[in-house]
Amino acid sequence: MRIVSIVGARPQFIKCALVSKELRKNNQEILVHTGQHYDYELSKVFFDQLGIPSPEYNLGVGSASHGEQTGMMLVEIEKVLLDEKPDFVLVYGDTNSTLAGALASVKLHIPIGHVEAGLRSFDRSMPEEINRVLTDHASDVLFVPTKTAEGNLKTEGICTNVFLVGDVMYDVLKQSILLAEKSLILETLAVQPKDYLLATIHRPSNTDSIDNLCSILKALSSAAKKVIFPVHPRTEHFIKKHGLERRIGRNIHMIKSAGYFDFLWLEKNAEKILTDSGGIQKESYLLKVPCITLRDNTEWVETVEDGWNILVGTNKGEILDAIHHFNPVGAQRDLFGSGDASTKIVKILEDYGSDTITNHR
Ligand code: UD1
Ligand code: UDP
Repeated sequence: MRIVSIVGARPQFIKCALVSKELRKNNQEILVHTGQHYDYELSKVFFDQLGIPSPEYNLGVGSASHGEQTGMMLVEIEKVLLDEKPDFVLVYGDTNSTLAGALASVKLHIPIGHVEAGLRSFDRSMPEEINRVLTDHASDVLFVPTKTAEGNLKTEGICTNVFLVGDVMYDVLKQSILLAEKSLILETLAVQPKDYLLATIHRPSNTDSIDNLCSILKALSSAAKKVIFPVHPRTEHFIKKHGLERRIGRNIHMIKSAGYFDFLWLEKNAEKILTDSGGIQKESYLLKVPCITLRDNTEWVETVEDGWNILVGTNKGEILDAIHHFNPVGAQRDLFGSGDASTKIVKILEDYGSDTITNHR
């Protein structure tokens, strides 16, 4: 088959790494990078570290408002699809690149596979939630990572061609952890294993609100622990624009967004992780590191149900309470499959073939 895979943002490069490798064994893959993320630390480093093939197309769309960014992607992706005439389009996750890929394909009647389908936070103020719902309803084959995701789709009437395959990020984590062990990031930052907190913040609800961001920064600054804080460019720009540097305590070590291996190693060795990222909540669970989620909801509800993730929002007191008292000990389940989701996805695509996919629309 000829398959166009569409990616554009940091977590999508990680998600596509092994699927792409597997796809290329028996099929022709055309990898399209929308250009949503373009800094070396948010894009090329993952291609280099994970051996992802260079994209056949880089659409160079860059940063803009939601409408402009998604619209520009839609125009450019449509051109690629008209030229390449693929049998199938694969999209990943829930970013604007995902939605643009799905919209361009569905309008051209090209079957779509959605990797990481069925996730719901039930919070429509998150741009990702809209992207998830619309992409799932435009897709023909839905690869769900968890039983909860499968149930969410069922509730919305999507029951055909839904495949519970596990989580592709787990595949990549499992394969990469040995390489991550070689990372010298702890030495470089002069921290000891289990003697620091790791924090990431990039959700608009946290970064685009001075109150919320300041509340999180105040909590981290008064944690009386060393905090390693790889800063997403969205957050870096907001901190600079509003002169929030002075709110950042000396215990907080801000670094650039880290490469994948360094970041995995920082996660594995952290005492606790504080984040609003989706992927990092999942990785914390897989690495058995307590996760304090700086949101009021999550699409990875199983991690909370199992007691390894706690939702604290942006309240300073709740964040500090979790930093000092959230100490999960319970057993964990195989929530995210067995690390072979990528192989399963490709096998399903090959077995079905584009013309035998039952169209559920
Ligand atoms: C996007 C996704 C989000 C995902 C995140 C992963 C959407 C709506 N959001 O959020 O779901 O969790 O990626 O990290 O698709 N910027 C740079 N350099 C870059 C990229 C971005 O400086 O290489 C800055 C720009 O100022 C830009 C801002 O970051 O305006 C936000 O980037 P954008 O891609 O719009 O959203 P993210 O917050 O990265
Ligand atoms: N990540 C990384 N370096 C960082 C922060 C995150 O390599 O400095 C990786 C992390 O290991 C995970 C993914 O990026 O695999 C999560 O992406 P992000 O938090 O940007 O997006 P989300 O998962 O919230 O969509």
